[in-house]
Amino acid sequence: MELMRVVEARRPENVGRVVRIRGWVRTRRDSKAGFSFIEVNDGSCLGNLQILAPVNLPNYESIVKHLHTGASIVVDGTIQASPAKGQATELVAQRLELLGDADPTLYPLQKKNHTYEFLRTIAHLRPRTNTFGAVTRIRHRVSLSIHQFFHENGFYYIHTPIITASDCEGAGALFRVTTLDPARPPLRDGQVDYTQDFFGKPTYLTVSGQLQAEAYACALGKVYTFGPTFRAENSNTTRHLAEFWMVEPEMAFYELADNMDLAEAFLKRILRDVLQECAEDMRFFQERVDPNLLQRLEQVLQTPFRRISYSEAIDILARAGRVWEFPVAWGKDLQSEHERYLAEEYFRGPVILYDYPRSIKPFYMRVNDDGRTVRAMDVLVPGVGEIIGGSQREERADVLEQRMREQGLDVEAYRWYLELRQFGSVPHSGFGLGLERTLLFLTGLTNIRDVIPFPRYPGHAEY
Ligand code: 4AD
Ligand code: MG
Repeated sequence: MELMRVVEARRPENVGRVVRIRGWVRTRRDSKAGFSFIEVNDGSCLGNLQILAPVNLPNYESIVKHLHTGASIVVDGTIQASPAKGQATELVAQRLELLGDADPTLYPLQKKNHTYEFLRTIAHLRPRTNTFGAVTRIRHRVSLSIHQFFHENGFYYIHTPIITASDCEGAGALFRVTTLDPARPPLRDGQVDYTQDFFGKPTYLTVSGQLQAEAYACALGKVYTFGPTFRAENSNTTRHLAEFWMVEPEMAFYELADNMDLAEAFLKRILRDVLQECAEDMRFFQERVDPNLLQRLEQVLQTPFRRISYSEAIDILARAGRVWEFPVAWGKDLQSEHERYLAEEYFRGPVILYDYPRSIKPFYMRVNDDGRTVRAMDVLVPGVGEIIGGSQREERADVLEQRMREQGLDVEAYRWYLELRQFGSVPHSGFGLGLERTLLFLTGLTNIRDVIPFPRYPGHAEY
């Protein structure tokens, strides 16, 4: 028997084929005309395959008539053209086997729509819903486009470490990695003695692979790292996770403008691929989540991203004539409300802000000639705010070392990083794109906990 996935069985060119389908029952309806209609989904696409199960199946009375939502089945049958609306084909069953039942008095996913809040409490079952199936397929597609884009543009994929001794962003939002017994740690002079820890010093989960990516960019030219990153910021917001995925390209011989060009081309490539390759799932989000989604995304694709300096942005915000929850002033970091005003109301599209005050940005960003700003860039998009953060890197060893001291870093611990400037230093740049923020942007969903399979945030590390 030829195995076929629902996505293929739904195609009209497969009418007449005799196939085996395996999946989970979404609904069952018994008709008086001598058969039952069973909607089956196997995750291969949003749409279900309608099974026609005739009463003359040997297990019709004993099994078919008792199939519940969520049960797993195997069906052998013939694909035929369907007279019903919204589907080109259906499958006439010749044999149906029940693999695992789902007790309707216990199975939490019944036919009705569930809230996102409820679904978060059953994160192991929510992939069986339309929304999470669609998110999952789009997440896969974005991951694939990331690799394709960089590969086609001459980048190498670098696997940077998950465990690290450095705090790249200098924000102190680190998860400690240790094998010491927290109840009885070894002490020296009243302090925990980390020389006795597994690595002989304090180590953490990485907040970014950038510093290590820089080492490889300064040898292979163009590289990227793409993996999980961890931040112990206590931000209980719809835009923050404690564990999220970030893709970070790093390019030797790139200055800030080249970095912006790359960021824009990269984001547009992801967008174009998703609109093309995930059309059915994207229509679902348009219909169910955000009626302006497709129009907004098409427009993003067509328009060049606006580019303005941080100082210009501060002027715009100060002139906006509104009361901000967080006051606007030069030297203060922008908050989500400011970023969204710029992208959603003022420019009505993506905008790249650059040249931020040096005092609010990490040590590694290149200091401008004015001495007060650094070559930072953030890409802001409607619906999300900051989706990309990046910069040109400080390539002058002396300036970099001074910035480290200014921010209270242990220079010796970053000696290797300084050496990249001491030996064959080149101008270089890079950025980080948050995968989950990208998925919010693409799907119109509003809570970041709904675009990652098993979200981690303060107080939550279930599953
Ligand atoms: O702006 P960030 O902190 O930049 C860096 O980490 C740089 N080292 C990147 C680089 O230049 N290579 O983070 C980059 C992006 C943000 O724009 C955002 O999309 C995402 O990562 N991000 C988060 N996403 C979810 N939850 C969080 N807590 C996030 N923090 C940052
Ligand atoms: Mg940032």
